[in-house]
Amino acid sequence: MRQPAIIANWKMYKTLTEAEEFLQRFPEELGHVSGIEMIICAPFVALASLSRQMEGTSLILGAQNMHWEKDGPFTGEISPLMLREVGVRYVILGHSERRMHFSEDDEIVNKKIKSAFTFGLSPILCVGESLEQRERGQTDAVLAQQVRKALDGLHPREEEMWGRLVVAYEPVWAIGTGKPAGGADAEQAAEVIRLALQEQLGQELPTKIRVIYGGSVNEANITEFSSRPAIDGALIGGSSLKEQSFARMIQAVYHERRG
Ligand code: 13P
Repeated sequence: MRQPAIIANWKMYKTLTEAEEFLQRFPEELGHVSGIEMIICAPFVALASLSRQMEGTSLILGAQNMHWEKDGPFTGEISPLMLREVGVRYVILGHSERRMHFSEDDEIVNKKIKSAFTFGLSPILCVGESLEQRERGQTDAVLAQQVRKALDGLHPREEEMWGRLVVAYEPVWAIGTGKPAGGADAEQAAEVIRLALQEQLGQELPTKIRVIYGGSVNEANITEFSSRPAIDGALIGGSSLKEQSFARMIQAVYHERRG
């Protein structure tokens, strides 16, 4: 059984002080849960401090982006080594907001995925179709292509490495719109993604890779996704910003998994 991952993507929200206050209040709000990987992907400037605050808790630290080189003359960029040193374990790569606003293409995403693996970080690869692509009936082809290109040149040698990959299905039209995909559609997309992984990596390895859903997930709808066998958790933007609602979503998945 794959362990569910519930991931907060704070995007460009929360100052350092606000991030620290969230972390102070969150454990009490959450109470006891187990068997779920809880990851918070915070802005760069909050990472070092949150890493210290997370010591002794079951929270895991993630970043939202990185450069693919370990160092170099890249003004304004952050390297995988820098992330590792402050205690980051996961990194979101290929988010549609980066593809859209910062011209990240599949080739760049591919370099970043390779680099994350090289430097011992676990990539959270985001894929998803635009509304236009969906209306043209291109969803499956777009997802398969994004997965293929992101993983191009990577080989199924190290089993442990693939177990660290998370693929997030995030339809662009569902992000921040309050209009999530339907559970059945999201599940079908997750199956398409797993098939694409199998084409690249063979039958066995992709059974270890988690495919999660993101896009307007909230307390009311999270189990509509997490209860489906093909979906192994959620990547959450807006609803992860308040400790109470993030905690409630994790609790919902915990109770649903326990039956
Ligand atoms: P929302 O949950 O705000 O729709 O954002 C989803 C997202 O982009 C997470 O990466």
